[in-house]
Amino acid sequence: MPVAPLPARQPLVGAEFPEGFVFGTATASYQIEGAVHEDGRGPSIWDTFSHTPGKVARGETGDVACDHYHRWQSDLDLMADYGVDAYRFSIAWPRIVPGGTGAVNQAGLDFYSRLVDGLLERGIKPVATLYHWDLPQTLEDDGGWPARGTANAFANYAELVGAALGDRVHQWTTLNEPWCSAYLGYAYGVHAPGRVDQEASLRAVHHLNLAHGLGLQALRAAVSKPDALFSITNNLETLRPIDPDSEADVMAVARTRAMHNEVWTGPQLLGEYPQLAFDVTSHVTDWSFVLDGDLEAIRQPIDVFGLNWYTPQWVGTGERQPGDADVRSMTPGLEGNRYAFPGNAEFTTMDWVIDDTGLTEMLVSLSKLVPGMALSVTENGASQADVVDRDGQVHDPGRVDYFINHLSAVHRAIEQGANVTSYFAWSLLDNFEWSWGYERRFGITHVDYETQLRTPKDSAKWYSKLARTKTIPSADPATWA
Ligand code: FCB
Repeated sequence: MPVAPLPARQPLVGAEFPEGFVFGTATASYQIEGAVHEDGRGPSIWDTFSHTPGKVARGETGDVACDHYHRWQSDLDLMADYGVDAYRFSIAWPRIVPGGTGAVNQAGLDFYSRLVDGLLERGIKPVATLYHWDLPQTLEDDGGWPARGTANAFANYAELVGAALGDRVHQWTTLNEPWCSAYLGYAYGVHAPGRVDQEASLRAVHHLNLAHGLGLQALRAAVSKPDALFSITNNLETLRPIDPDSEADVMAVARTRAMHNEVWTGPQLLGEYPQLAFDVTSHVTDWSFVLDGDLEAIRQPIDVFGLNWYTPQWVGTGERQPGDADVRSMTPGLEGNRYAFPGNAEFTTMDWVIDDTGLTEMLVSLSKLVPGMALSVTENGASQADVVDRDGQVHDPGRVDYFINHLSAVHRAIEQGANVTSYFAWSLLDNFEWSWGYERRFGITHVDYETQLRTPKDSAKWYSKLARTKTIPSADPATWA
């Protein structure tokens, strides 16, 4: 049975966001900074991985990336021109503690301190993520996320960053998408450190959760800004059965929800792992790495729950069918999954289905899981094959359309009672898209990697209008001034 077709989109052009709603742009250190050998930065797992032949498309690396480390001031000027309220960036752990533990690199702290001051001078709220995947290589050499010691090292790092920047940062995020760190890094092997070991991936799940809990406690104790907000960002999947009438497909969704969503939301928000996760992974581990007291440590009060969201998924079981996604699940317990698409689906250049209804669904379900919890869409956006036109502009109507529909979805979630308080476009700049390298462009600003020239795309003009008016603009460029 084929997946049911997607409904027609219902953009809410002209819809206004609540008073105080924050619009920002997001980036991550390894994807934009470059300067990997400068001012005492140590190597990270992404340096090692990207320099390993065959791991990243075309052998590309983050060595130079968007050269943001040197161009941060003009990049902040660009954001000020756009009129965004906030900037979500990440701090490179190997710039701060180059060896993962031990000596602190003051030059690294100084870089982010200048960045934070630069944001405040421009009236932009700093939203800092402590870990967006660039683990110091020495910690991987000592076992990486499957080792408990990495969680303790993270708490020490969190404390010293909190002490250095905690008088000024508006909002803190411990981890970005631990799902990717654990599964893509340790089970699928397609992200750094590139290991293929299911048992290790589950240890990583737990130690990432633990790092969040210990890190948040350390951060709170070190931060002095009384109204600073604390959060974590997860990429949760909106999951649908390929055939809603098939019990096997419905069960596949439940297993996938447990392994991909509830192993994060469970401990972080409710203080428990889902029983189904234990049941479906018993061939891999008995989870004896979860020690007494860990679940209490992980469940910390947070002020905002961050969600990165791009696309929903249709899950089932059985033989792969023609037209299915070319994906074999390596997640423990999900080895039998197949992934399909609606026949009328449109895709971004990541081959991700464009369907904003899943974003509303996820936000509303989170607001039911923890009633009243403030929610932030900390990433959302579309990769497109953008080119600079003969008029020197970058016309990206597909991305404008994506934003219109997904901001409409956020608005709809608010109408349905979800307490969504901010939204961050991924991304401020085209950048190093991990194992895909530079070809997949997500920016609202085009980057020419030869010259480092930044060109605001049409979507930046659209987004700027949104940020300034807090109202969803139409797709007509004549209305963006
Ligand atoms: C998310 C990552 C982010 C970016 C987007 C496209 O999974 O957090 O760094 O690569 O996907």
